[in-house]
Amino acid sequence: MNTTATTTASISRPVPGPRGKFLLGSLPDFMRGALDASYKGFLEYGDVVQYHLGPRTIYIVSHPDIARTILIEKSRSFPRNDSKDDLGPITGQGLVSNDSYESWLTQRRMMQPMFHKQRLTTMGKRMEESAQRLLARWDTYPADHTLDVSKEMVAVTLDIINQTMFSTNVLDKVDKIGPAAGIAMRYLEHHIRSPFKTPLSWPTARNTQFKQARATLDDIIYGIIRQRRQSDAQHDDLLDLLINARDEETGEGMNDTQLRDEVITVFGAGHETTAHTMTWAWYVLSQHPEILQHLQNEIDHVLEGRTPTIADLPRLPYVHQVFNEVMRLYPAAPIMGMRKVTDQTTLNTYQLQSGALITVNIYNIHRHPKFWDNPETFDPDRFSPERSKGRHPLAYMPFGAGPRKCIGSNMALMEGPLLLAMIAQRYNLELVPGQRVEGEVAITYRPRYGMNMILKPRNAI
Ligand code: HEM
Repeated sequence: MNTTATTTASISRPVPGPRGKFLLGSLPDFMRGALDASYKGFLEYGDVVQYHLGPRTIYIVSHPDIARTILIEKSRSFPRNDSKDDLGPITGQGLVSNDSYESWLTQRRMMQPMFHKQRLTTMGKRMEESAQRLLARWDTYPADHTLDVSKEMVAVTLDIINQTMFSTNVLDKVDKIGPAAGIAMRYLEHHIRSPFKTPLSWPTARNTQFKQARATLDDIIYGIIRQRRQSDAQHDDLLDLLINARDEETGEGMNDTQLRDEVITVFGAGHETTAHTMTWAWYVLSQHPEILQHLQNEIDHVLEGRTPTIADLPRLPYVHQVFNEVMRLYPAAPIMGMRKVTDQTTLNTYQLQSGALITVNIYNIHRHPKFWDNPETFDPDRFSPERSKGRHPLAYMPFGAGPRKCIGSNMALMEGPLLLAMIAQRYNLELVPGQRVEGEVAITYRPRYGMNMILKPRNAI
């Protein structure tokens, strides 16, 4: 396996990869499961693999040096793919899918202050209150109550994103939002992978279902915007910032469609990712009781029975290690958004074809044997200060890298450990016997069959 990377090379060679089936290439494998197909390809062909997906050529990168070239050093030569072929059908020109560098940069600069660590700390109380609401509901259940933890984590993270960014309560709409978001994400996953795209105007079952799901989400988002436009109160949140933003040249504010695109982006990107990470955390902890015990010992020792708050997080290093290790094994965005190869380029001795697509596979990088011992083993001690020393900075990159790195990383790094600490202090979660556990990528990496678990209050154990 090639493990060094330079951008200029004396010898360049075509990128290796499977030929796949006549005309279709590797498309059937990718449609069955992009993550499995590209992990297999990484093990067989190495750090950069070329795939033919029908008429399209795509490269998948699984080495941190090459990821650095694409995402940081030469990010302008590898721009995001057109939004209409990406998340655009749901997020429009919102931050995550905006493919115009200049307008993306303006949006990013405007929204960035909302996501600074200090600013988020002031929102800590709202995160704590959302977690308290979840625990108060769980407390009403009888002993050994079974619930789908995946839905529960969606509910609590949705509550958090709405309370912190939009100062709204959408908990009564969770039963509508969860399924609609799931349908939309599965549609997008299919749409992005498939080279043969059916126009959205065609009345196919998939299109109709997607449009219904999008209309459900739009109804909720436009409702939030309408309510805010009619209110005189200051909320000091992301929605206020977006509504008050003015174009420097024209002095105009955002129209409702622009606002909707930004709101739905943060609404979606800001809860699904953390929700699925948390669900995987409860699953993997249920399979490693000794690690759960270590985590609870730290919480009990530091908190002495008091409920954890954001201010306690710096004194809970093992909680952070567990959260980091969960994001290594189950990165919420395992395959990054597609970038375009704009020129015939040589990348680490590989020749890339202009017009092809290229992406970075975070899941593979997090399992790269050159950077991780026993990569499949769940071992939070990898993230102890001693063992983290000297690690390649991009061998671990759950939030991506470069200018388009996740804007919500600081928030996720507060919210995830807070939820871990607050819930693990009070409950053990046991996997229901017979529960099928299988990952599915629908933009985010989620458990395909939900996660039914039994609630065991710790004081009753
Ligand atoms: C465990 C939690 C999370 C993970 C693992 C995660 C991961 C990522 C990754 C890998 C990207 C880069 C995608 C690419 O370049 O192709 C990204 C972008 C983004 N994330 Fe997150 N994310 C998380 C939580 C959040 C939260 C809490 C928010 C908002 C509150 C958020 C909002 C965004 C946005 C808006 C972008 C697009 C940034 C841009 O293009 O400028 N994410 N995220």
